[in-house]
Amino acid sequence: MSAQTSERFVDAVEIRGANPLRDPRDRRLPRVAGPSGLVIFGVTGDLSRKKLMPAVYDLANRGLLPPGFSLVGFARRDWEDQDFAQVVHDAVREHARTPFREEVWTQLAEGMRFVPGDFDDDGAFEQLRSAVEELDAYRGTSGNFAFYLSVPPKFFPKVVRQLKKHGLADAPEGSWRRAVIEKPFGHDLASARELNAVVHEVFDPEQVFRIDHYLGKETVQNILALRFANQMYEPVWNRSFVDHVQITMAEDIGIGGRAGYYDGIGSARDVIQNHLLQLLALTAMEEPIAFDAESLLTEKLKVLRSVRLPEDLGAHTVRGQYAPGWQGGELVPGYLQEEGIAPTSRTDTYAAIKLEVDNRRWAGVPFYLRTGKRLGRRVTEIAVVFQRAPHSPFDTTATEELGENAVVIRVQPDEGMTVRFGSKVPGTSMEIRDVSMDFAYGESFTESSPEAYERLILDVLLGDANLFPRHQEVEESWRILDPIEEHWERHGGPAQYRSGTWGPEEADEMLIRDGRSWRRP
Ligand code: BG6
Repeated sequence: MSAQTSERFVDAVEIRGANPLRDPRDRRLPRVAGPSGLVIFGVTGDLSRKKLMPAVYDLANRGLLPPGFSLVGFARRDWEDQDFAQVVHDAVREHARTPFREEVWTQLAEGMRFVPGDFDDDGAFEQLRSAVEELDAYRGTSGNFAFYLSVPPKFFPKVVRQLKKHGLADAPEGSWRRAVIEKPFGHDLASARELNAVVHEVFDPEQVFRIDHYLGKETVQNILALRFANQMYEPVWNRSFVDHVQITMAEDIGIGGRAGYYDGIGSARDVIQNHLLQLLALTAMEEPIAFDAESLLTEKLKVLRSVRLPEDLGAHTVRGQYAPGWQGGELVPGYLQEEGIAPTSRTDTYAAIKLEVDNRRWAGVPFYLRTGKRLGRRVTEIAVVFQRAPHSPFDTTATEELGENAVVIRVQPDEGMTVRFGSKVPGTSMEIRDVSMDFAYGESFTESSPEAYERLILDVLLGDANLFPRHQEVEESWRILDPIEEHWERHGGPAQYRSGTWGPEEADEMLIRDGRSWRRP
């Protein structure tokens, strides 16, 4: 075990043996799932292998799953239970966060079952029902099952209806059934509404957990801690002090092997509709009356409903597509040269949009959102940029060099926060220069951060819906994005930008017109 791994494992060892019977509302104690099982549809996909299977193992390894926890895979493969267990084993070995421990694995593997079949196959769903009943009888899962739909949205209606038809969606007396749904949740408002209607034919809203993995990230949850566990930020977190907000999600990777998913969807639907609008909601919302799902929904929804688009979408939105360029010392192909992409594709791989939140706290404060693939480096951050001091007693030349105060929440990769402010430069004159004060998770805490999917899967098993967007939020986000997508559709293709840069020039011009500039993280 490397030094780093052993340090990261500390929290796992400490909480093994925790009493699963303690009050789950007591947040000072580890939250441990009660008797339950997870069924994954789309178990052969990348997400399942790289994120879901390792997350299940990591939870088991940290003592957060019950001893009889069971994992059922459903896919069109000619596998036996042990073939499935082998696939999970390999995925865990390759991608798990915590070290491999034979005894944890053995216990977990005993509860693995595989059901071969496709979604039209009634026989396969009957077999799934038998598997669930058998696990209840022999592993003590107590009828508590979550069904994870890690499949393209076109299959959601089929799968949920099959679950209903075969009695799997209805929980036996005293137990629960939940559906976990991966994005993309629709393609626009109309399709999202249709999907929601189908899902709610079968499951009540409280049974449905929509995954936005950004909400599972520690630093994203910390936005609320920062704002509402302290006194010093809230008084200035408003239009009287804030000049504007920039939310950036930049990636250095291209689309990899995901042409089939990505082309025709593009960056705005892929991440602005969900991750970035959720970040905006958390940054702008009022304090919830309690930290529970209903109160969070109420406040986030109010923000999303207050979002107003600029009238001139041509001037205040930009979309781009990466062209070949140098990245990490290597010449990388452009989007149109990627395997599986038509040379005429107009899909955006970069998007920048300006929004306003029309309420008393934020009226007139622009929120600039941007995202892109093949940008300079991977970074996600929220920068709250403050107005300049209205007056300065220092001599003008020095003051002009002063930048703006900013609070920057660094979501990844250097999780933490930076506060920028002006400070006197040592010397005999009163020269002021901007400096930064940093808080880094790695330095301040010995506890390690769980992977987003660990947190979210555990929450599903605990029935804790705080970190899951509800259907109203999803629909509201599409309401914001649809007119932008329609505008882009009507007005030519995306602007090209060289890979390894910070996006198209048009995006810089968009901010210059407002007398501002993008941060270079
Ligand atoms: C996913 C998008 O939701 O988030 C991907 O579909 C993107 O295109 C990914 O690469 C980024 O996630 P993370 O956690 O690496 O920032």
